[in-house]
Amino acid sequence: MVLEEPKAVAPSPNAAVKPADEKRKGATSAEAKQSTIYIDGQFLPESEAKVSVFDHGLLYGDGIFEGIRFYNGRVFRLEEHLDRLWDSARSICLEIPLSKEEMTEALLETIRRNGLRDGYIRQVVTRGVGNLGLNPMQCRHPSVIIIVATIALYSEEVYRNGLTVVTCATRRMSAAALNPAVKSLNYLNNVMARIEANLAGADEALMLNDAGNVAECTADNVFVIKKGQIFTPPITAGALRGITRSVAFEVAEELGMQVRETDITRHDVFVADECFLTGTAAEVIPVIKADGRVIGTGKPGPITGRIIARFRELTREGDTQIYP
Ligand SMILES: Cc1ncc(COP(=O)(O)O)c(C=O)c1O
Repeated sequence: MVLEEPKAVAPSPNAAVKPADEKRKGATSAEAKQSTIYIDGQFLPESEAKVSVFDHGLLYGDGIFEGIRFYNGRVFRLEEHLDRLWDSARSICLEIPLSKEEMTEALLETIRRNGLRDGYIRQVVTRGVGNLGLNPMQCRHPSVIIIVATIALYSEEVYRNGLTVVTCATRRMSAAALNPAVKSLNYLNNVMARIEANLAGADEALMLNDAGNVAECTADNVFVIKKGQIFTPPITAGALRGITRSVAFEVAEELGMQVRETDITRHDVFVADECFLTGTAAEVIPVIKADGRVIGTGKPGPITGRIIARFRELTREGDTQIYP
């Protein structure tokens, strides 16, 4: 079923991640409608969208996910997200029970049923129901879940004024243990780092790898700018091959600059002229302080500003149209 295209919905600037519509205390009648969630071929109201307690996604974090944004009635970089989901699946020997075309249709239809033009999609594939042993051979049917939400991780003020980061003691897990390139449901490494940032009163945590070089933040890639040159850690440093990261590469090139992938230390962050983070949820966001050191002038820098402006333009031209 294809629904009518809705009127533009303004994203709420101060909200954290929340379902498309929530039946919360104090919700207005317009907000009282539940969001619709896709689970294994069914579209269910969120109160009925449930998974088994024997799903290994819950018991062992055995599964994969993607976070995707849509803007202006179009999904942004859908193909790249699907490719990365399929790569994650292949790496952990998980067979996604849909083709990419079927997944795309399920995803678009979930957005349509939630009636949004701007928002965030959480796409999850779990190993499925098994027994209490961790052997994935027990799990015969992986589950596919698609959640549509409105989301704004930070207020517009943070995008204007920048955020603070602290280096955390928790190291980014090494590729030899669990490759950070797999976007798995096992995010405890990142959660531990996030807790450190919270305890330190910072907005984000800078995660180092075992060699002591910067890998990434808890859900964002890191860029520094020095004397007009842009640098970011290579994937081999433990950074996710971020899709927003690749958009930043494209934008930099358009602006006549190249991003150099090279090892970065905390020192490089401290002495940078500018620093910014990229991620689907956070988008492109300036960093103005790291471990108490003021970065550059302490204000979002001019190159970061140009990258954010162009990024925002590009998001309006997303690739996959949601409504006919
Ligand atoms: C650990 C980690 N690093 C970086 C990113 C940014 O990647 P993307 O721009 O594809 O969202 C994410 C978010 O998906 C992430 O979870």
